[in-house]
Amino acid sequence: MSEVEARNASITLRLKGIELDIEPQDSFQANFSRYKEHEFNAFAASYERDFIRRNDAMYSVAANTLKQECARYQDPLRMLDVGCGTGFGLRETFAGRVGGGYFGIDPAENMLQVLERTALSLPTIEVSTRQAKGGILRIDSVQDEIINTLGGRPQLITWLAAMHVVNKHEQLGPLIGATAELLDRDGRVVIGNYYHNSADDFEAFRQRYMQRMVHQPTPPCQLFNASQMEAILRTFWLEVISCQEMVCTDGLRAYVMVAKHK
Ligand SMILES: C[S@@+](CC[C@H](N)C(=O)[O-])C[C@H]1O[C@@H](n2cnc3c(N)ncnc32)[C@H](O)[C@@H]1O
Repeated sequence: MSEVEARNASITLRLKGIELDIEPQDSFQANFSRYKEHEFNAFAASYERDFIRRNDAMYSVAANTLKQECARYQDPLRMLDVGCGTGFGLRETFAGRVGGGYFGIDPAENMLQVLERTALSLPTIEVSTRQAKGGILRIDSVQDEIINTLGGRPQLITWLAAMHVVNKHEQLGPLIGATAELLDRDGRVVIGNYYHNSADDFEAFRQRYMQRMVHQPTPPCQLFNASQMEAILRTFWLEVISCQEMVCTDGLRAYVMVAKHK
């Protein structure tokens, strides 16, 4: 990519199959979050190979946690998956179950298309998806739609590698609030997040990441470590009942956390 100087002019940025119109008044942060929204459409076909497998340290713990947590509920299990992507949560939770309802939300159409193929291998599960950002959880009629579609409040709500892509207009706090509001009284929230311990750790990670990707990784200010996450959950009367930490390929730190109503 070459540098472009374009004062007071609109430009179109084409990067890895993604096209963004950039206006002079747009901030880097606004452009970055728009890029992220498009990125997963371009990335969908190779996502499982390039992201899930590369971060197996987190995903294998996430898979075990989902199996363990969903074993607490009889069929039909009700699940909401925010930023569901290609359906890792769907596959790991419902494999081997004979009934249940799954509601996935994601803005990337191409990621949802991969999920629809995953759904074909689970013919006894009612799979619904909504192409939208996580921000729609704040809308009362959407909450009602989720509850009606699933036939009750979700018993399992997952946010796997999806909180860091929520953009600042959606505001994570109210989305966690909506998660708490929607969750069944005896339900569980499963969160898988990434973070960096220090600016030096981020810089070392950024350099390794840029060898294989052309865009910058998510900046540390948009990430939450486990104790920051726990504090946000506490604000909405959710208590953490387990948290496993791990280090992924490239030195990215991650955790898988389970929370429930206090
Ligand atoms: C790293 S992937 C995680 C997908 C899946 N949960 C998993 O763990 O494999 C992040 C997902 O968040 C979606 N996403 C992007 N912006 C979002 C937003 N504002 N709200 C909810 N999801 C978003 C992306 O399209 C992408 O599918």
